[in-house]
Amino acid sequence: MHASEPDADRRALLLRSARAAAGAAGMAWGLSPWPAQGQETARPDLHLELHAEPGEVSIRPGAPTRVWRYRTRLLQGDRAAVEDMAGSYLGPIIRVRRGQRVRIDLVNGLGEPTIIHWHGLHVPEAMDGHPRFAIAPGERYVYTFTVVNRAGCYWFHPHPHGRTGAQVYAGLAGLFIVSDDEEAALGLPSGAQDVPLVIQDRAFDGDNQFVYLGRTLEGAGTPSRGMMGRGEGGMGGMMGGGMRGMMGGGMGSMMAAMMGMLGDQILVNGAMPAVREVARRPYRLRMLNASNTRSFKLAWSDGAPLHVIGNDGGLLARPVQRAYVMLAPAERVDLWVDFGSRPAGSEAVLRSLAFDSGMGGMMGGAGRGLADGAAFEVQRFRMDTGPALPGEPPSVLSTIAPADPRVAVNVSHPKVFEPTMGMMVWGINGESFDMLAASELETVKLGTHEIWEFRNDAQGSMMGMAMPHSMHVHGLQFRVLSRTVARRYAREYATVSAGLVDDGWKDTVLLMPGERVRLLMQFRDYPGLFLYHCHMLEHEDSGLMRNYRVSA
Ligand code: C2O
Ligand code: CU
Repeated sequence: MHASEPDADRRALLLRSARAAAGAAGMAWGLSPWPAQGQETARPDLHLELHAEPGEVSIRPGAPTRVWRYRTRLLQGDRAAVEDMAGSYLGPIIRVRRGQRVRIDLVNGLGEPTIIHWHGLHVPEAMDGHPRFAIAPGERYVYTFTVVNRAGCYWFHPHPHGRTGAQVYAGLAGLFIVSDDEEAALGLPSGAQDVPLVIQDRAFDGDNQFVYLGRTLEGAGTPSRGMMGRGEGGMGGMMGGGMRGMMGGGMGSMMAAMMGMLGDQILVNGAMPAVREVARRPYRLRMLNASNTRSFKLAWSDGAPLHVIGNDGGLLARPVQRAYVMLAPAERVDLWVDFGSRPAGSEAVLRSLAFDSGMGGMMGGAGRGLADGAAFEVQRFRMDTGPALPGEPPSVLSTIAPADPRVAVNVSHPKVFEPTMGMMVWGINGESFDMLAASELETVKLGTHEIWEFRNDAQGSMMGMAMPHSMHVHGLQFRVLSRTVARRYAREYATVSAGLVDDGWKDTVLLMPGERVRLLMQFRDYPGLFLYHCHMLEHEDSGLMRNYRVSA
């Protein structure tokens, strides 16, 4: 299949996939966060266009920063459902209720192919934003699907092969927030007390321009030169633009193209972190790590515990309390915070604490000074002087059945997937991304559960050093069954392990050096070819991504 696949083929594919979905509907499965799916017929509750295009925003004092962003046109539905993040390259924030039908048209106003992936959503194959569906400049891709996910904080971003890292870094990403009746009944903090915080790192040049792998984002009129030059996204090449792009930036950027891009400036919601004035009452902070490679170790600077009420796939069964929470690229965490118990005028500071990523601080070179695992401030909150209305999180949030590994067809033989590195190319079990390929191991049967084990043993090391990965599986939410770590990595692991929140439904999981993580997955409703990959985007772009096939 080709990036400029004609519409007729795409429609045929849509129909095939919808029919297959209808066929699969009606079967009953024990462990699932969503009801069985039927065919898309009715008119959408929400219809919008997202135009991916170059733009400019003011991020730092002085010259504006050239970015790529989604410009939104609402064609049908509630205005309040789409929030443009004014003054930010990020966005929009799309808010929908579970069960709503959406139609979203991606219009490619960039100088290279792109496609959108709805991260965490359970949607049919053709709606999932696989790189083989990448559209050429000027083309349109129509997404229509019913939102079946639980209430939670999902997101969307580009996914053209070899160019995902560059396009996300240039600014393309937004939140997709789902609500439902179960959540509404809890009376969680809402409105101004429900605050999305998208955290990212960036590197700037002296002119306030983003620097990615040693190159600067070119102006709106010149999309075919420089770091954001015409990529090969969606064309099926094993080595993407990241590999080629790094050649221009010397040794440091060559390393960054393999190890991952780290910036030295933390941005919150696409802006320089600024003190945020808050009322003295409970808040809900929905945090997404939309960084290309950097992981966060979130904690309050005064040592107050974090109350976690949700993560990737929505609310947990009940709140859990942690001294700190790890947030790997693409992971989300939903925090309940009682600013009502803090004195008027006082400040609460959310920091990322130091941790040992197993890289011995080496990645600092790639990111000009802020190593992976370095400590820094993320967001400062100042209590206003209004009345204090302290509160407590609900003790029960949701009903989530315990994960029972015995439902898996391979309960006694978990499938093993291991990040590997060979000839400066990442892979999984020794195979790099191949646009249409899925091995036998990567083929699953529609309607079954399987146990997958991601292993970060010695095979994924570069120059003898294993690194963390952030493993993501498309099209579903999974359960984390267990983690084990090799003894020789115990010391590094101890700097992060208490911050892993594996409760509830997940779609992305941090895999530390020396670690093995077992997941329980269910493949239902939608046959087809889906991705699983590392969400450290330079790893993904340089091959740490594969397909899995759900066969009917
Ligand atoms: Cu959020 Cu395949 O990615
Ligand atoms: Cu990785």
